[in-house]
Amino acid sequence: MNNNVNNKTENELAHVNSLKNSEVGAISKFVKNLLTLKNPDTMIKDAQSGGLKKSLGAFDLIILGVGAIIGSGIFTVVGIAAAGSSESLGAGPGLVISMVLASMACVFSALCYSEFASMIPAAGSAYLYTYATMGEFMAWLIGWVLMLEYLVGYIAVVSAWSGYFMQFIKGFSKFLPDCIVNPPVYLIHDYSTVKNMLGDNIDNMIPHFMGIPICINIPGICITLYIIMTLIKGMKESTKMAGLMVAIKLGVVGLFILTGLFYIKPENWTPFAPNGLNGIFMGAFIIFFAYIGFDAIATAAEETKNPQKNLPIGIIGSLGVCTIVYVLVALVLTGVVPIDKIDVQAPIASAMAMVGQNWVAGLISIGALTGLTSVLLVLMLAGTRILYAMSRDGFLPKILQTLHSKFKTPHVLTILVGIICILGSLFLNISIAAELCNFGTFASFIIVCVAVLILRKTDPKRPRPFKVPFSPFLPLMGILCCGGLMIYSMQFLKTSRILFPVWVILGIVFYFAYSYKQQRKAQNLSNEDNDV
Ligand code: ALA
Repeated sequence: MNNNVNNKTENELAHVNSLKNSEVGAISKFVKNLLTLKNPDTMIKDAQSGGLKKSLGAFDLIILGVGAIIGSGIFTVVGIAAAGSSESLGAGPGLVISMVLASMACVFSALCYSEFASMIPAAGSAYLYTYATMGEFMAWLIGWVLMLEYLVGYIAVVSAWSGYFMQFIKGFSKFLPDCIVNPPVYLIHDYSTVKNMLGDNIDNMIPHFMGIPICINIPGICITLYIIMTLIKGMKESTKMAGLMVAIKLGVVGLFILTGLFYIKPENWTPFAPNGLNGIFMGAFIIFFAYIGFDAIATAAEETKNPQKNLPIGIIGSLGVCTIVYVLVALVLTGVVPIDKIDVQAPIASAMAMVGQNWVAGLISIGALTGLTSVLLVLMLAGTRILYAMSRDGFLPKILQTLHSKFKTPHVLTILVGIICILGSLFLNISIAAELCNFGTFASFIIVCVAVLILRKTDPKRPRPFKVPFSPFLPLMGILCCGGLMIYSMQFLKTSRILFPVWVILGIVFYFAYSYKQQRKAQNLSNEDNDV
């Protein structure tokens, strides 16, 4: 009897142990899956077999970079960074320091981007670098967060574009009918902006369709359709157009600096930092938006000739050009206009109007419109190339990789991304979109700096045509600058600091509901192939 009881207990124990072991096995397999790395050699091979046309040289890349960087940041956001807003303190003339701080955070990350881009010249940028170092799950998450930078950033810029376009149209008020010059606000803005304008009465003042309020940013939709068509036609054509736009926008910014030099009153530079260090740091967080875009160059790696040499030149060159231009703009703007008189809607153009240079102000508005168009072009290009890489890795449906038979560009993906941007621009206003874009970009910059450090340890022998100097000091400085500005800003911002984690959680849910399973199916298939 006693023997029977003992046997039973032993059997039960063995059963419990085997269950425990299989649970532990399943958990460790699950964790192993999440940490699956992709070999950089496979990435390069994928890129070589991808079929994207190699047409870009170093100069094209600098044009692409400056095209992506100079936009609504320097034409619009610079006023908020200097004068402040309801959510943030202004830097005052100390904006020059904020500009340098934001640029430093970017330079450290740009060096890390360059090391990776020259080592793994494949479309996908931060997403791929994470896949090579931190595994599948983090790679997916960073790809997801990058959509904030490129697609939500696109929505912020499209909103500014639409504003400048309406200003431009107003210049022709003598020749155009009033319904075009002064259309109802719900035909030129997103819902949230219209709500801010009309207040609680909004429901009585705008049309509804099946109970849904209708706010359609028509100029924004038109420019997005144009961008979609240009991108489908191809990279070389896109950079040719971007080149013209970059020349125009650099021309008008140069005109502002040269004209402004004659109107600087040094007394406007005191007090230098009216809100102390708080103002300078918050100014750096806000103006960071103006620098976003240089990393987009890395996403065009597969379409670059001699990428090992040209990518670092493109990335660091475009950032250098923009930093010099921005510092000069900050000096001139704060020297010409007293801080309390800065117009936060159109600071650069208004500064010229204030000193009686109306024709310069008019030219600046046209330049802003052109500048914003080139930013839109590059942001959408970068967003589609990251999604292309994610689809190639099996995280997203295969159909997104379909290339256009004539132009060899991913047209299905481009159209889908365009539709998503149009839908987003119906709801998100410019300031929330820009803040979210900043959060997404800071997160990706931090990850790229960390990834450089990891790969130096795990794969030290891999050829690195470009190496970040003074590693680990410079990558660590990148992490510190980006992380510091990100955390610091959270004490002031309201909506975006909630939306950012919500976006991250949505990404995690999507991964486990779809991408994780797709990856396992793909792995099982390739294991079966190997067995055969
Ligand atoms: N840097 C880009 C701009 O300023 C996002 O518009």
